[in-house]
Amino acid sequence: MIKLGVLASGRGSNFQSIIDSIDRGALDAEIACLITDNRSAYAIERARLHNIPHVYINPAGYASRDIFYRSIADELQFCEVELVVLAGFMRVVKKPLIDAFPMRIMNIHPALLPSFKGLNAQKQALDYGVRIAGCTVHFVDEEVDSGPIILQEAVPVFSDDTEESLSARILESEHRIYPLAIKLFIEGKLRVTGNTVKIGD
Ligand code: GRF
Repeated sequence: MIKLGVLASGRGSNFQSIIDSIDRGALDAEIACLITDNRSAYAIERARLHNIPHVYINPAGYASRDIFYRSIADELQFCEVELVVLAGFMRVVKKPLIDAFPMRIMNIHPALLPSFKGLNAQKQALDYGVRIAGCTVHFVDEEVDSGPIILQEAVPVFSDDTEESLSARILESEHRIYPLAIKLFIEGKLRVTGNTVKIGD
């Protein structure tokens, strides 16, 4: 069974969707550890409720970003993690972690990349006036919200949408496609060529 390592900074609803997929037998995986950079992240509570080992790593305790990411990589390797899942981890991942897990770090972003990278993606989409929004699961490289796209799901934008209503609609999609992308990885169905991912046997 594949071991996952989850990195989260906040409420952890995507983390929960992965826990739930495992619990109902849809994902043949085990969450070996949750790492968080925020002591009060609700994700920690979710880990406790499901007996998932969790570690708080205080970014302020490291002399440099590189050392911080090296220590996260060490922790993940100690837990024998094979796939790293960023689930609302509010930091730009740096080279020491990326090099330790090449094409084995996934992220979810609440926009149809390459549109609306960075923070407040749902607000960016509303402000731009798009009619279709959505979310993207992708492998992580050194650029922000970049890297080969694995899955995307689109949702409509309605004229009376607020940032909250659109975010909630996108979040439902996130909870569907993130476990699915992990499942494809586990089944060995993702082939990365350059910046694209082919899905197949
Ligand atoms: C999600 O919208 C995700 O796409 C983004 O951060 C948010 C995290 O939400 N990267 P949650 O902590 O998983 O509930």
